[in-house]
Amino acid sequence: MAQINNNYLKLQAGYLFPEISRRVNEFTQANPEASIIRLGIGDVTRPLVPAVLKAFHEGVEDMADGGTFHGYGPEQGYDWLSQVIIDKAYKPLGVDLKTSEVFISDGSKCDSANILDIFDLSNKVAIGDPVYPVYNDTNVMVGRSGQMNDEGYYDGLVYMPCTEENGFNPDFPSEKVDIVYLCFPNNPTGTVATKEQLKAWVDYAIANDVVLLFDAAYEAFITESDIPHSIYEIEGAKQCAIEFRSFSKTAGFTGVRCGLTVVPEELMGTTDKGEKYSFNKLWNRRQCTKFNGVSYPVQKAAAAVYSDEGWAQVKDIIDGYMDNAKIIREGLSAAGIECFGGINAPYIWLKTPEGMTSWDFFDKLLNECFVVGTPGSGFGPSGEGYFRLSAFGDPKNVETAVQRIKEKWGK
Ligand code: MLT
Repeated sequence: MAQINNNYLKLQAGYLFPEISRRVNEFTQANPEASIIRLGIGDVTRPLVPAVLKAFHEGVEDMADGGTFHGYGPEQGYDWLSQVIIDKAYKPLGVDLKTSEVFISDGSKCDSANILDIFDLSNKVAIGDPVYPVYNDTNVMVGRSGQMNDEGYYDGLVYMPCTEENGFNPDFPSEKVDIVYLCFPNNPTGTVATKEQLKAWVDYAIANDVVLLFDAAYEAFITESDIPHSIYEIEGAKQCAIEFRSFSKTAGFTGVRCGLTVVPEELMGTTDKGEKYSFNKLWNRRQCTKFNGVSYPVQKAAAAVYSDEGWAQVKDIIDGYMDNAKIIREGLSAAGIECFGGINAPYIWLKTPEGMTSWDFFDKLLNECFVVGTPGSGFGPSGEGYFRLSAFGDPKNVETAVQRIKEKWGK
């Protein structure tokens, strides 16, 4: 009989969001009348904008005509999409990239997981705590983590606490590592890093031969002009960083699926003979073998996000989500609940009232206010006592949810 990958047995029982769905389904079955408001998983609620939808339809129509039909596309994505991303999303930041450095994919969750294929298992990895669970769990799955200890940490991984004391910006790892995951704007805390803070990370990475895996999935939600949108705004970052971006939250593609990963040609690793080797070549090789590219209509739709019309429409929706974030943050703060994030990110990270544990607050919020959020401890031990609310809801629902929370816990 075939052996299973035993590393999977080292994982906590279920992935966080399916576990939340399970509890919510159980509750709705028992309470079918309850008007549930979902501010848990960061899933968008507004439909695709007209300019994107038009391009999507055109892409589908092209597939119906022998003259414009597209079969397999380039595994790296069509150059016309990579080029528009470079021109519209990177050049305005002063970042110059080549299309060969941009890899279009079906989302940054998959890429931030799959990227481990091009790194040796012997690399030491540091992640934040709390953290987007994918970084932790995929390292467990590949066998890098060892067992989980009683405190909820894996022996083989290095954790960087993100706490109120350090402004949710982690200090450098406490020991020598080879790879550091960073996520700014941060999921789950909704906080951001300044240019100076990112420069310190780039300097640290170059000085210590570290690769930064920089998740910028939420960069479109930055509202303050001095906050960097890309790690490559920092000089030297192309030598030490891979960046992930996503159309999911930016343009409502959670169900459409499109993202991208930038692997600069300057970024080098070491072979077992001690020679330098390009991570860009490895990622290209990996994608060509394991991935057949994103569908043509989806890439047409993604390119339309960056048309003048498309961007104006998308930006309007982003602004609406950020209005929600303001309502949550200001409403709960006024009620005496301590809140973080929500200014440059669609997540509000709040301190649970009355010192409740994160899961106790989850259950109370669900049972008594019919509001779903995400328990902070689900993102790591340092998230205990915190709770995440997402700003992707319908504005009326968001206001109702805030009202219900204020009535229950407001001071
Ligand atoms: C979240 O709620 O943290 C995100 O929706 C998860 C994801 O993007 O995979």
